[in-house]
This record gives sequence, C-alpha cells and structure tokens, in this order.
Amino acid sequence: MIGKSSWDWLGFFFPAFDLITLNACRANLIEGSSRYPSGWFRIHLFPFGTTVVANGPELVDELCNAPDDAFSLADFAEKILHIRYTISPTLRQSRYHIPIVRNTLTRNLGVLFSALVDEMNAAFADSVFNFDSDIGANGRKGEGEWRGVVVHRNIMKLVCRVTNRVVVGAPLCRNREYRNLNIDFTMDVAKRAVFINLFPAFLHRLIGPLLSKTKKYQRQMRRLVGDMIEERKAKLSKDKHYEDKPNDYLMWLIEQAPSGAEGTTEALIVRLLQMNFSSIHATSMTLTHAIFYLATYPEYIPLLRAEADAVISEDGWTKKGMQRMRRLDSFLRESSRINAVTLTSLNRYALRDYTFQDGTFIPKGTFVTASLHSLHMNDGTYEDAEKFDPWRFVEKGANEEVLEESMARQFTSTSAEYLAFGSGKHVCPGRFFAANEIKAILCYFILNYDLRLPGGVTERPPNQYFGTSVLPNQRAEVLFRPRRRA
Ligand code: HEM
Repeated sequence: MIGKSSWDWLGFFFPAFDLITLNACRANLIEGSSRYPSGWFRIHLFPFGTTVVANGPELVDELCNAPDDAFSLADFAEKILHIRYTISPTLRQSRYHIPIVRNTLTRNLGVLFSALVDEMNAAFADSVFNFDSDIGANGRKGEGEWRGVVVHRNIMKLVCRVTNRVVVGAPLCRNREYRNLNIDFTMDVAKRAVFINLFPAFLHRLIGPLLSKTKKYQRQMRRLVGDMIEERKAKLSKDKHYEDKPNDYLMWLIEQAPSGAEGTTEALIVRLLQMNFSSIHATSMTLTHAIFYLATYPEYIPLLRAEADAVISEDGWTKKGMQRMRRLDSFLRESSRINAVTLTSLNRYALRDYTFQDGTFIPKGTFVTASLHSLHMNDGTYEDAEKFDPWRFVEKGANEEVLEESMARQFTSTSAEYLAFGSGKHVCPGRFFAANEIKAILCYFILNYDLRLPGGVTERPPNQYFGTSVLPNQRAEVLFRPRRRA
C-alpha cells in the first residue's frame, strides 16, 4: 500500500479521518507509479478507502475493455457523488440521456454552432469581460488599460449561459435566476456529496435524504421552465413536426424519454439539472486551466491569433473552422494533458470478482482506477513531460494538409496514454460538444484580448488539489486588455 500510515484504520470507522489523505493523493500516485511503472498498486483515497490503481498503457487498456458486468462507472459515480440523494435515484434507473448526448447532440453540433456563437457574443457583452460596460467593475482591479478578472467563477457564468443555449434555448438561457440556480445546483451536488462521505456507509441512508435538496431545486426549476415543457409536450402530441419546433437538448429529452415516469415534467427537470451538472464543472475547469496557460505564456498568443484570423476569414465562426484550428486544438490537448480535471481516470467499482491477464485478482466491491497523472506525465511517452509545449500535438513544421491528418492526436481523441475524457465504452459522450464550446470561447479571448499575469506574478496560478480533483486556482486573477488592432 502506497502512503500507508498508522492511523489508516481510523478511516474505516470514521471516514472524516480520510480527509487527511486528500493532500497526499498526488504524491501517492507519483510514488506508486515510479515503483510500479507497468503494474498495480494500492493507495488510500477519500472517500473510497483502499483503491487499486492500474498503471501503464497495457493495464489501462485492459481496464478500459473490461466488461461492464465486472466494472461499473455508474456505481463508482453513485458511491462518490451519492447521486440518488444529491440529484435523483431515477438517473440510475434510466440512462437514456447518454445516447442523446453521444448521438443527437454530437450530430447537431454543426447546425447548432451558430446559435452557440450568437450566445457567446451576447454573454461576453453582458459579462465582466465587456470593459465598455461597468458590469462587475467594482470587482476588477486595473493596471492601466489592463483589467484583472477572477477567472474561474466568471468563466463558469459564461459556460453556463452558452451551454444552456443548446440545452433549453433562448431566452431562458439568459435568465439570471435560471443560470444561478443551475450553477448553485452544480456546486451543491459536489459539496453535499463530500459531506455525506464524511459519515460511515451505514449512515448514508439516514443522512442522504436529510441533505437532499433536489426537490427544492425542482420546485424552482418548475417555476422557470415548467410551462415551457408542458407547452412543448402539448404541441408535440398534436404534431410531431410542429412549426418552429425547437432543436435543443430539452426537445430531444421530451421526444426520447422512455414512456411513463420519465416523461413527466418533474423527471425532465431532473435531466436538465443533471445535464448542467455534467457539463458546467468540467468545461469551466478545462477552459480556466487553458486561460491560465495563455496568461502565463502570452508569447504563444500571436501564432494562435494568426491561425484564428486565417481560419475565420475563410470559414467564419463554424464547427468546420474550429476543427481546422490545429494549433488551438494542440494547445488545449497539452493544457489538459498537464491539468486534466482529475488525477485518475477510468474510475470503476468492481461488481464481481475479476482476474486480470497478469493474474491480479480484484475482489467484488473494490474501487479501481487508472493513474491518469502518471500516464500523462510519462517522459517515455511525452518528451520532457513536465514542460508545457503547446505545439506538442501538431507536426512540427508541417504544412496544413499534414496538420489536418494528425487526427489521432486531437484534443478529443483518446488512447491508453491520454485519458482526459476517459476511454473505451464510457468515454465522455459530451466531449465533442465541450471541445467546440471551449474552442469558440478561447478563440474569442485570443481574437479580442491580450492576456497576462498580474504584475509581480511570474508563475502560473497554482492548482488546488482536492483528492483526485485538479481545480484551477479559484481566486486567481488574470489581466485582460482589449486587443489593439492595427
Ligand atoms: C472538458 C469538459 C469535459 C471533460 C474533461 C469530461 C470528462 C469526462 C470523463 C473523464 C468521463 C468518464 C469517462 C470514463 O470513465 O471512461 C466523462 C463521462 C461523461 N461525461 Fe464528460 N467531460 C466533459 C464535458 C462533458 C459535457 C459537456 C457533457 C454533456 C454534454 C458530458 C457528459 C458526460 C456523461 C453523460 C458521462 C458519463 C458516460 C457514461 O456513463 O457512459 N461531459 N466525462
């Protein structure tokens, strides 16, 4: 066991003691990976207790392809997030939203892209990033023409609005109460789950329902979105292709929900809350990590800007244009290689005993994961892995045709050596949507602002590690200045 200490047994009875292990998580993963570069090791991880970690591409591949009846992502998510209490038990009973995200959303990205860009422009105009308005001016410290903005929380607001243009459409995505409610819900789920995890498992059934706030959020959502859902259902029951039928996630939910309980307004509201939870956190964290790199290395901005200018002048703000921005894509993949949103990936719970090809026996009830951090920081796979090299994934000196060919190294491509979106059967189904949204927002920053760290700050704002989560610094400011055009 890596990182074992004499008080570990206390965590078995009082999980709160395991909180002490949170800070050690990264160090333990590094130590385990250097001792067992292509093997298994065990570490203590809050809130799971002993967790078995797969290390090296071969084992990661095997874990990735292990059968669903042996290793479950849904059970893992339930045990860490207590979804039945923090969101709703119905999410476990039906997972019909996953093919909607994977297939319907991804297929519609091209047609919905202009709406996404339209919302992004409007969201920037209404945000602290609009220096011509006085929105949030009190909270912005200036250095001449440069304005300091706390990045993460403001990015979260932008992401919530832009995402919801595709989730519920306009004008609801602009409604401040709706947006605040979904951001609060997203934060609340994470906080409540941590709190429940402080108690031993036998108390979860008692504590969970007491802490559940879903009914409160459902009531508030019903007031904001209930009439719209019922109107859409009524129109749809008369005519499947009614005039002006919206093309958004809510409409796909209404159309594809299994008949019965899932089609009720309450159940649809739960799916909307869930969608906000799945998308807002990870997207804002990924975007913030990338913005911190832009501000730390402003010398990379001119090349990104030249690429964006060239592509947009030919393709406009389109999905095709986003795909052609290979430098931006590489920048994002590199940012997420060093700072994926978690230190581990392929988090699974063993539903039955299982023996891997090398003879390693995993008993039922074990938490199993892969050390993303060690794979991503392996010098054998990534030369000088500690170094942020934004063009690592574009062929050096290659012409554009060759750049376009390097598909396997795209931001959204996964492998046993790149796990920011997971891999295999449960690979993130929302990654193409997320990538397009992140690229559009980052491109907006690159084209419209200069960025740098505040005076006196020379290092990228340090991450905040919470167990396996890699949070971008929550308080860090970046200085923005509207771009001077020649
Ligand atoms: C940059 C943003 C995002 C990151 C880094 C991310 C990352 C991940 C990861 C690591 C997994 C687990 C995969 C595995 O264990 O193999 C996952 C699953 C999932 N993600 Fe994402 N995600 C992001 C954005 C989104 C968005 C925008 C959506 C919705 C539109 C979404 C929906 C989901 C769902 C539904 C699953 C569960 C899949 C399943 O159970 O089979 N994600 N994501």
